[in-house]
Amino acid sequence: MKLTSLLVPENPVPHPRRVLITGCLGQLGRTLQATLTDHVRLGIDLPDCDITDPAVVPFIEAHAPDIIIHTAAYTNVDGAESNPDLVFRINMWGTHNLALACQRTGAPLLYISTNEVFDGTRTTSAYYEWETINPLSVYARSKAAGEAVVRTLLQRFYIVRIAWLFAPGGNNFPRKIIENADKHGRLRVVSDEFGNPTYAPDLAAAISQLITTEHFGIYHLVNGGSCSRYEFASEVLRQAGRGHVPVTPVAHSEWERPSTPPLHALLANTNAAALGITLRPWQEALAAFFQTS
Ligand SMILES: NC(=O)c1ccc[n+]([C@@H]2O[C@H](COP(=O)([O-])OP(=O)(O)OC[C@H]3O[C@@H](n4cnc5c(N)ncnc54)[C@H](OP(=O)(O)O)[C@@H]3O)[C@@H](O)[C@H]2O)c1
Repeated sequence: MKLTSLLVPENPVPHPRRVLITGCLGQLGRTLQATLTDHVRLGIDLPDCDITDPAVVPFIEAHAPDIIIHTAAYTNVDGAESNPDLVFRINMWGTHNLALACQRTGAPLLYISTNEVFDGTRTTSAYYEWETINPLSVYARSKAAGEAVVRTLLQRFYIVRIAWLFAPGGNNFPRKIIENADKHGRLRVVSDEFGNPTYAPDLAAAISQLITTEHFGIYHLVNGGSCSRYEFASEVLRQAGRGHVPVTPVAHSEWERPSTPPLHALLANTNAAALGITLRPWQEALAAFFQTS
């Protein structure tokens, strides 16, 4: 078992000085490494370090982090339906190991969770941080189980729920829309699933503010505003200079997939906003994405 990356700035901030990032090669993990430049960043990811291996607990203890930011997860929502054992091993037991490492080191844990812990059946308003969750899919249940582990084992934790994540260079919705538009010349996109696009650099900047507060609890960090998949795709094509590509709105019931996503699991950011932490509107974030992609 070894670190995947170690980045040491010349003058790290005094606290939290050593930030351990799980899933450091993923979309969010890479973005956090690029954002938290004033901290010593210790990155772990497969194949160097498997969070499901109990040996990860003493391994992390030996590296004495001041905080663990836990982004690593099994993230293939559709694939999860046919792999529940693997999904729970990574998303629940992996999180359990990290919580144990936090118990041993005294470091707080920041656990990245998902809007999918809500069932999305309420169409009248977004979900607040304190509302009761009701996960539907295997992936969502495993992420909710991770939340439960964190809340049960630790007192010093941040649970940060995010939604439709996109980062420059990542495998995400805007990239797939552009690839499919260029390949097929036309698109069909679901118009009755709504969410909050979340631009990884904006999220990482918000997390860098949050971890200095030591105001522990549950947070919803998503870009401002919300949209349907159809509206998101249309804006992606417009901003990518492909506004001429025809897009047909379709109902989710016409789109065959193994898992059923929550249709209206919008997240309201009230707790972070009370600390002065908000993310700009998603359309502006998308423009920034295209400037850096
Ligand atoms: N993407 C979204 O739209 C979205 C929405 C809501 C919430 N989230 C949550 O946000 C977080 C980050 O998502 P992301 O899109 O950045 O994910 P990602 O790109 O799939 O990155 C996850 C990373 O975790 C690694 N990993 C998986 N199993 C591991 C294990 N057993 N030990 C160590 N590392 C392991 C993966 O390695 P491999 O690639 O080798 O498997 C990958 O590098 C996740 O917790 C996810 O549940 C994501």
